[in-house]
Amino acid sequence: MTFAIQTLNAISPLGLERLDRSRFDVGTDIPEPRALLLRSADLHSYEVPPSLYAVARAGAGTNNIPVDAMAARGIPVFNTPGANANAVKELVIAGMLLAARNLYHAADYTKNLVAEQHLSGKELDQQVEAGKKAFAGFELPGRTLGVIGLGAIGVLVANAAQSLGMKVLGYDPAITVERAWQLSPSVEQVTSVEELLASSDFITLHVPLIEATQGLVSAERIATMRPGSVILNFARGGIVDEAAVIAALDSGHLHAYVNDFPTEAGSIHPKVIALPHLGASTSEAEDNCAVMAVDQLTDFLLHGNIRNS
Ligand code: MLT
Repeated sequence: MTFAIQTLNAISPLGLERLDRSRFDVGTDIPEPRALLLRSADLHSYEVPPSLYAVARAGAGTNNIPVDAMAARGIPVFNTPGANANAVKELVIAGMLLAARNLYHAADYTKNLVAEQHLSGKELDQQVEAGKKAFAGFELPGRTLGVIGLGAIGVLVANAAQSLGMKVLGYDPAITVERAWQLSPSVEQVTSVEELLASSDFITLHVPLIEATQGLVSAERIATMRPGSVILNFARGGIVDEAAVIAALDSGHLHAYVNDFPTEAGSIHPKVIALPHLGASTSEAEDNCAVMAVDQLTDFLLHGNIRNS
């Protein structure tokens, strides 16, 4: 018997090569798929065919999939927690440095001097020198990073920030403080989001988008944050009330908002560093996610084993 697997997004060849073609038909155009393999394709209005038996996402978040509706039909949804954790960790560290040293704006500034203002020679030198003062930043050692969500990514971020000399506070809304201590013994745990926000210079989010985390970083909570602090969001856009963040950036309460869920308002805001959804976009992370997703899917289809659903 062969199993038909429909891919709804480009999946790393390293993962696809693991599918033994004598057992699996793989393609983008499969009318009666036994399984779906996807990254960010939105399945909320997908009409589930009777042939469907399993879904695998090469990525950690599953908010693009109606997991409960699938479960009600007995269809497991596999994901790949941890497989892209290092890529996200590196982006968080890069985001902190971008914001602390004003790098994003400084690069725009120098480009603009030539591309828009057509400066050269002495005039260009003078303006480049002026940029030195205008974009002076601050350093990370001694600053506090608050990590919300202590899964695979949050723990890696916490360790990396500590190695840069930062103090790290952790809070995970989904687990008890005791469990959080077990998972990340080197991170000082606080008992509420409020405590974490009030005591951090940077906060970074590593929780899934679920009902309990929708709007977690709200206007009321932003008001309790330290003046001049920075929010990093490489988790999901809906976790942060972006309008409230923009108001706090405009009033000077916050220094920057770094995220990879660009909106119209965010993309053009001078204090928002808005990137494409780049958290997991490294060749290594794409390979890891594809391999883990494919292995789980084949283990289930061939042997009935369920991991990470
Ligand atoms: C994830 O959920 O793992 C990340 O957001 C990566 C992605 O979807 O591209």
